[in-house]
Amino acid sequence: MSNPKNLKPRALDESFCSILVGFNFLFFTALLAFMLVLPLKAVLSGSDASHGTDGSHEAVADVSLEAAAEVPAAVAVAAVVVDPITHAAGKSAYMICSTCHGAEGEGNAALNAPALAGQNDWYLKRQLIKYKEGVRGSHPDDTYGMQMRAMAMTLADETKIDEVVAYIAQLPVTAPLATFDGNVAKGAASYALCAACHGPDGEGNELMNAPALQNLQDWYIVRQLQNYKSGVRGTHPKDIEGMQMRPMSMILADEQAMKDIAAFIGSKVAAK
Ligand code: HEC
Ligand code: HEC
Repeated sequence: MSNPKNLKPRALDESFCSILVGFNFLFFTALLAFMLVLPLKAVLSGSDASHGTDGSHEAVADVSLEAAAEVPAAVAVAAVVVDPITHAAGKSAYMICSTCHGAEGEGNAALNAPALAGQNDWYLKRQLIKYKEGVRGSHPDDTYGMQMRAMAMTLADETKIDEVVAYIAQLPVTAPLATFDGNVAKGAASYALCAACHGPDGEGNELMNAPALQNLQDWYIVRQLQNYKSGVRGTHPKDIEGMQMRPMSMILADEQAMKDIAAFIGSKVAAK
């Protein structure tokens, strides 16, 4: 799959293609501006047109026809060029992540790294920004968050974050295995509240800023609930979404209640 011989040419390809992409962007912007101006022009010179300055009218029609003919070509170029490059860039950016999160983003209990595959892209992006800015992973007791924070620092800018997230988003989803027993029925009862934000099957809800839970490992769910409850997560003044989640963790009386919920969430995946 990964061919080391391709590495250097790929880097060249990338810069060439970003020029192409840049060109396409300029082209579209110009085209858009042009298309917006046309109707305006027609309206402004409306009286002229209706009184038979047909020559100019036809000229305008010709130009817009030409422009229309160029659109599909440009779209085709963008579709062919942009996707594989983003994919290649995301794939190479994900290389380092795979050492902890697994080749397919399935997670790794021994390294404390949660599954990423199946998670909502907007949530992944927000967490990476939070790690980078120290909104998550900077609490002195957040051992694992600090490990992750160092990794987020390797993503140079928003483009790199977008690329790696786009790559993760297309990874196949592996249902996690249960690592402990929990009371699914009890978990179902207390999950009723969580469903309001995370969805009935733990599928997540962007409007509520709530991530998917259904593909996360049980031990990771419990650890995050403990982190929220103890204030390791969700107490940074800029962690708006974490502050929404934190009071919810308070409702869970003890670790067993958290395990029951995690078992219920796990059962949702198994049911599929
Ligand atoms: C050294 C191991 C390691 C590497 C490498 C690593 N991570 Fe992580 N990552 C973790 C750990 C551990 C956590 C969980 C932190 C916690 O428990 O709070 C985590 C958490 C995350 C989260 C939050 C998930 C969630 O559900 O909230 C995201 C997103 C993430 N990592 C993405 C990445 C990306 C992208 C890369 C590559 C640039 C990467 N990680 C590299 C160890 C790693
Ligand atoms: C008011 C809406 C709301 C409710 C209700 C709610 N959550 Fe959350 N939850 C959130 C938000 C928002 C986040 C994401 C915080 C962030 O972006 O940093 C979150 C994050 C989480 C995470 C961390 C996921 C990860 O990938 O790291 C877990 C686990 C979680 N919630 C479990 C629960 C459970 C269990 C309940 C019910 C007891 C619950 N939530 C109730 C809004 C809610």
